[in-house]
Amino acid sequence: MPEIRLDKYLADAGQGTRSQVKNLIKQGRVKVGDTTAKKPEQKVDTDCETVYVDGNQVHFRTFEYYMLNKPQGFVSARKDKWSETVLDLIDEDKRRDLFPVGRLDKDTEGLLIITNDGKLSNDLLSPKKHVPKIYYAIIYGNVTEETIRQFEEGLDIGDGKLTKPAKLKKLSDDESHDMVSPVEITITEGRYHQIKKMFEAVGMEVMYLRRIAMGRLFLDEKLLCGTYRRMTDEEVELLRACAE
Ligand code: URA
Repeated sequence: MPEIRLDKYLADAGQGTRSQVKNLIKQGRVKVGDTTAKKPEQKVDTDCETVYVDGNQVHFRTFEYYMLNKPQGFVSARKDKWSETVLDLIDEDKRRDLFPVGRLDKDTEGLLIITNDGKLSNDLLSPKKHVPKIYYAIIYGNVTEETIRQFEEGLDIGDGKLTKPAKLKKLSDDESHDMVSPVEITITEGRYHQIKKMFEAVGMEVMYLRRIAMGRLFLDEKLLCGTYRRMTDEEVELLRACAE
């Protein structure tokens, strides 16, 4: 039976900071079942007890999952000395144990999962699971059949071993795209600056990068850049399925 302190329960359920929820308890506004709670350290069984604040049921979730459409300019970390982080974009009563699943560079946009589910995050990022990540990119340079073959065969990006086969797809055959190539690229690893370094390895440069999918979970096209929403149970299941 998962039991946690009442003040943590309330804070994790988005009812305020630890000191704010302690005040709610002090003011007699919190009930566990039929009984008015008196102590923040009281234990609550998250599976079978119901908690109310001012008569309204508190909805506790052990795990939270958000889909964020990351904008440029935000660091994928919980905290950063110099820049705003992706967690600064989650503005509701957010719990403090949230973190981003993996990293997108500061200038990369797109799909980023924010959660407090460490196991799912580890599974998704584990090199053993080969979870595919799909990106849309605009490249300075002319992507040719030869580039596609090089990405398929693996590239030396300077960290000791070749990259695993990556699928590169040209999104336009327009001749005017000689100098700039829109592409889709699928990788199954998550090495540091991987896509930028792969293009550098073939003498090209990434001008724009956006992640559009992780496993079978695609970025919701209705989610504007910089916004987020809670993931549906089906979406969480899609993620779990690709990390099994
Ligand atoms: N590859 C990169 O180079 N940057 C990212 O943000 C993600 C993948």
